[in-house]
Amino acid sequence: LRPVGVIGTGKYVPERILTNQDMEKMMDTNDEWIVSRTGIRERHIAAAEQATSDLAYEAAKAAAASAGIKHEDIELIIVATVTPDSAFPSTACILQDKLGAKGAAAFDLSAACSGFVYGLATATSLIQTGMYNNALVIGADCLSRITDYTDRNTSVLFGDGAGAVILGEVPEGRGFKSFDLGAEGAGGPLLNLQAGGSRLPASEETVANKQHYIYMNGREVFKFAVRVMGTATIDVLAKAGLGKEDVDLFIPHQANIRIIQSAMQRLDLPEEKVVINVDKYANTSAASIPLALVEAAEEGRMKPGDKVLMVGFGGGLTWGASVLVW
Ligand code: ACO
Repeated sequence: LRPVGVIGTGKYVPERILTNQDMEKMMDTNDEWIVSRTGIRERHIAAAEQATSDLAYEAAKAAAASAGIKHEDIELIIVATVTPDSAFPSTACILQDKLGAKGAAAFDLSAACSGFVYGLATATSLIQTGMYNNALVIGADCLSRITDYTDRNTSVLFGDGAGAVILGEVPEGRGFKSFDLGAEGAGGPLLNLQAGGSRLPASEETVANKQHYIYMNGREVFKFAVRVMGTATIDVLAKAGLGKEDVDLFIPHQANIRIIQSAMQRLDLPEEKVVINVDKYANTSAASIPLALVEAAEEGRMKPGDKVLMVGFGGGLTWGASVLVW
């Protein structure tokens, strides 16, 4: 199998920033509670005319430019999202048209906050086997569109953004070394969007019942997250023949600083080896890990040969982890 890795990166967050202080004016909450319980200070919110494909487009353009690849040469587009522009066509197809990536295969992938890592695994396999030579993998979400801004339990946690990578063949010894994907479907009801699908189509009742907004059992999701962040990181390192001491940079899903800290303790990782930007962006679901990866790349935090460990968890319930030699 040929080695496959990241050959280009790009990101985009909407201009508008909603701070904790702004949220204090909207509901009964306060900066101290939000920072101490979550680590979040502000989040970016899409403009009224922006949909997920618009965020994805900006990130994709930047990734293609950084890889030096023409849009028409992109062969495969995977958009990981839980907030597609519409149920269909897929956001990936809308994006393919915007980019002018004529002929590229395009599909969306639904694995919530683990979606980007699921997308990396899918694209890597398809390139390794020779079916495609490159792929654009994007995590993009507009969680503000499914957030109830009268519910302090959830609304402070989420933001909008997009992160993109171009995958392609890399020199021997580099690239993705292992993946660990998993799901616990029984936990689905702990974190979901109840209406708008074939089970419960949109109706006056679903709107009145607020069933088009994210529902989350925060405490149970927290427990799941702490557990799988531990097990998935150990499993994915073992699959790559590595131990926790080998990790040069840890890129966890940015949902809550306390969940990240528990994983750091488990892995004995000092802060300088961990990418944390939950304070600036909050939880952007599928965009969270790629935003952190792209920012780390832009800040020069990875040098060739560094071992990068990514791990995410989210609705499904799902988790996804990967070891990448940069
Ligand atoms: N401001 C002030 N008080 C608040 C707020 C707020 N924004 N939100 C909740 N509270 C109150 C609650 O009402 C509760 O009050 P009560 O005890 O009087 O009922 C109190 O704070 C404590 O609430 P807890 O739920 O016990 O707080 P906890 O410490 O568990 O933190 C949190 C809550 C931050 C949601 C935490 O459980 C968490 O991070 N869970 C995981 C979330 C997560 O990772 N989600 C991933 C989503 S991924 C995806 O797919 C979108």
